[in-house]
Amino acid sequence: MPSFSFFTTLVWLGLFATVQAQVKYLGVAMAGGDFGCDIYGFCPLSTATLPLTELGHADGAGQMQHFVKDDGVSMFRLPTSWQFLINNDKVASDKLDPTNAGQYDMFVQACLSTGAYCMLDVHNFARFNGAIVGQGGPPDEMFVAIWVALAETYANDSRVVFEITNEPHDLDLDLWVQTCQKVVTGIRNAGATTQMILLPGVNFDSASTLVTTGGADALMNITNPDGSIDGLYLDIHKYLDNRNSGLTGDCATNNIGNFSMVADYLRKTKRKGLVSETGASSSRDCMIDFCAQNEYINANGDVFIGLVAWAAGQFDTSYVLSLTPTLEPNGSYTDNQLFSQCVLGPYLGSDVPVLPSQTSSTSPSSTSTLTHTATLAAESSSNKSGLKGGYNASSITPASTPTPTNAAQSRSIYVVKNVIVAVMAGAALF
Ligand SMILES: *[C@@H]1O[C@H](CO)[C@@H](O)[C@H](O)[C@H]1NC(C)=O
Ligand SMILES: *[C@@H]1O[C@H](CO)[C@@H](O)[C@H](O)[C@H]1NC(C)=O
Ligand SMILES: *[C@@H]1O[C@H](CO)[C@@H](O)[C@H](O)[C@H]1NC(C)=O
Ligand SMILES: *[C@@H]1O[C@H](CO)[C@@H](O)[C@H](O)[C@H]1NC(C)=O
Ligand SMILES: *[C@@H]1O[C@H](CO)[C@@H](O)[C@H](O)[C@H]1NC(C)=O
Ligand SMILES: *[C@@H]1O[C@H](CO)[C@@H](O)[C@H](O)[C@H]1NC(C)=O
Repeated sequence: MPSFSFFTTLVWLGLFATVQAQVKYLGVAMAGGDFGCDIYGFCPLSTATLPLTELGHADGAGQMQHFVKDDGVSMFRLPTSWQFLINNDKVASDKLDPTNAGQYDMFVQACLSTGAYCMLDVHNFARFNGAIVGQGGPPDEMFVAIWVALAETYANDSRVVFEITNEPHDLDLDLWVQTCQKVVTGIRNAGATTQMILLPGVNFDSASTLVTTGGADALMNITNPDGSIDGLYLDIHKYLDNRNSGLTGDCATNNIGNFSMVADYLRKTKRKGLVSETGASSSRDCMIDFCAQNEYINANGDVFIGLVAWAAGQFDTSYVLSLTPTLEPNGSYTDNQLFSQCVLGPYLGSDVPVLPSQTSSTSPSSTSTLTHTATLAAESSSNKSGLKGGYNASSITPASTPTPTNAAQSRSIYVVKNVIVAVMAGAALF
């Protein structure tokens, strides 16, 4: 029947088009384990807050189940810190602490049990307490040993993804690439032979510089021990505010220029990348820009294999970039408009109108919820190395009155630290 085959063809083309115009992995960052980490790799144990009810924190497991079951999310990013994994915030070590690594494993297992891919993220900015790995700080071997221990633990889980670190910056590219090569070799030789590994560039992974000064060419030279490049992907981050910080509720760009530059590079070099961090607020400008950006990323799903949005987990629903779903009295979760419209919508290819959010029509830039370890001033070429020496984590104390719950208290400490870091970075910039 001609009409049938015509119809079938249309349906098939429609499905085909949908599959093409889509990233393979849609993800959400389940933040909390990184709380308190600053861009110099200070990550206090006291503020690490893995979102698990078993630990007295947020219901990250329930959120992940919801995202998978109700939305079709297929990847979660699970930030933690080197300090947490070794249970020491003073001296770097290459030994996982059984208790803390066990808690992190509970979190990873909660993720794996949903059927999703689970990204291990050592959220240290290539540092330990201000000192750069392999560049005056802990030797490469120490950092490699942590990754080998993790790789041995998850060697048989094909859905574990290894993100070497979050947002390296202000370091020597060639040395950093050598460090990454050793980590890749270590992970593969530990038995994790097929899993995805994300290779982070040297300017906060920023899409704006990744393929120029950010090191893409050098990173793409990294190989598996057998010389192949299977499973090795460029790690890509980008925010939409005018400083690419992820710290404020404003949006200044839809990043299509930046992402098209990266897409062209990946296509030309026949490589692929994964956008493992991007986020925006629910302001009207951001709803427009973030939706447009994510439509572009999905439309270029041939080179961008994944899109992981920041963030849910331990963040509450009022956090400026929150994607945390609301728990209803009947136990189900409801997504916020930003997630439905600008993260899920572009993935599903739904043609959703862009409207300002009812609940956040004012720009949600309140510092009381400003809690992101940001790509601070990543767009800037200014010399921030002066800051490193001047920064002293232990001299920073919370200025706000601690709130009753541990989580809220952690958040306020974290907020203050980030505000101070932001102010210092700002001072260095101007
Ligand atoms: C992974 O599987 C291999 C082969 O079945 C087994 O020998 C090894 O102990 C497993 N590793 C872990 C960490 O479970
Ligand atoms: C990549 O490797 C090739 C061959 O070893 C080398 O010639 C080239 O300089 C490397 N590129 C970078 C950017 O390191
Ligand atoms: C990339 O984004 C930055 C702002 O974050 C902008 O200044 C720059 O012009 C963009 N680059 C391209 C090629 O669009
Ligand atoms: C739970 O409550 C929400 C919000 O009222 C509603 O949308 C949802 O359908 C309910 N789910 C079930 C299973 O009753
Ligand atoms: C950056 O600033 C630091 C501290 O002020 C200084 O020691 C260093 O030489 C500067 N580097 C460059 C490239 O300007
Ligand atoms: C950092 O600050 C703490 C508390 O003010 C102080 O005890 C410590 O000596 C400082 N460390 C450095 C390296 O300045």
